[in-house]
Amino acid sequence: MTKAVAFPQSRTCPYHPPAEYPRPAEERPLSRVTLWDGRQVWLVTGHGAARSLLADPRLSTDSTRPDFPMPTERAGTLRRRRRAALLGWDDPEHNAQRRLLIPSFTLKRTEGLRPRIQETVDRLLDAVEAQGPPTELVSAFALPVPSIVICDLLGVPYEDHDFFEEQSRRLLRGPTGADTEDALAQLEEYLGALIDLKRAKPGDGVIDDLVAQGSGDGGPDRQELVQLATILLVAGHETTANMISLGTFTLLNHPERLAELRADPSLVPSAVEELLRFLSIADGLLRVAREDIDVSGTVIRAGEGVAFSTSVINRDAAAYGDPDTLDWARPARHHVAFGFGIHQCLGQNLARAELEIALGTLLRRLPGLRLDAPAEEIPFKPGDTVQGMLALPVSW
Ligand code: HEM
Repeated sequence: MTKAVAFPQSRTCPYHPPAEYPRPAEERPLSRVTLWDGRQVWLVTGHGAARSLLADPRLSTDSTRPDFPMPTERAGTLRRRRRAALLGWDDPEHNAQRRLLIPSFTLKRTEGLRPRIQETVDRLLDAVEAQGPPTELVSAFALPVPSIVICDLLGVPYEDHDFFEEQSRRLLRGPTGADTEDALAQLEEYLGALIDLKRAKPGDGVIDDLVAQGSGDGGPDRQELVQLATILLVAGHETTANMISLGTFTLLNHPERLAELRADPSLVPSAVEELLRFLSIADGLLRVAREDIDVSGTVIRAGEGVAFSTSVINRDAAAYGDPDTLDWARPARHHVAFGFGIHQCLGQNLARAELEIALGTLLRRLPGLRLDAPAEEIPFKPGDTVQGMLALPVSW
């Protein structure tokens, strides 16, 4: 029996799982870990077990249940009282919410956004080039790309980006519970006012479509609209920004892989998939068991918490040969970086399009791109939030 290590933990290297996290053993895809409040929960580390458990309706995402595990005290303050739209609901309510959004996030719809994404990426890189080296790539590129794209898609004015980026940061990483509550209140007030404006003067964004659906019988009411808009705005820019910054950092630390991509840009889509697997930036999905669940002889009891370390799961040697190595040729698509089951990321097609265009264009346009500080001095995000770089000083 291994001892119950603390969860979540910060990474030592921003692109590898925390060294102390248990790695999966074929006969034991679950381990015990200890949360900040001393509570022990199950940590799923095996790839097969993760996919079957993430698709299992006996696990709940309802964070208002008293037995729901919290990753930090700060997160618990808010999530015990309020659950996020979509992510905090089980079926059938979850399904009803998700159905409202599916038409806006199909592969076809997101493929149609590619020319606009390319324009945005080109415009930002024009500014980066015009200003000349060195540059801080998170603020100049990694954050504005998804922020502009999600504003365009939702119908949110990008002029307000300083406000909503700051509130999203406080919501995910604010130092105290009071911070996260205040950030959510501010975001909801802002989006509520925007929804009221759109009622009076409809536009053509996803929020406008939702508002139109909400005006009919049985459609979402104002509070539901506000909560849906909030999760789309926050999830729609923070995550992809982290993939762009950490993806770039990782490539600059793997010169041979980088050279392969530069020599053959048709590898970019496979590289994005492999980077999603390798980096697993959403590295702590949480659930609680509603009933007893037998996993190969180990029983998760009703009321027990279950955490999924996507970074460990996506490096299960039973699923991926030589899992700690980046390899553009491997089929990586069955990773769980976007989760799995009913909550699997709604924005994954959009994220893939953004990553392919952002990383592909960055490498093409700045062939001499390099880190402008020693890699070990560049700050990255702590383990209790979405993983990514806090800053990325580069030159070329
Ligand atoms: C590379 C970028 C992204 C990553 C790694 C990522 C990761 C994830 C993961 C792991 C989940 C499942 C969480 C769980 O099961 O507990 C999720 C759900 C979700 N994501 Fe993403 N995401 C990304 C980009 C986006 C974008 C661009 C959007 C745009 C709208 C988005 C919207 C959502 C929503 C709405 C959910 C909740 C789905 C549901 O509960 O039905 N994500 N994401």
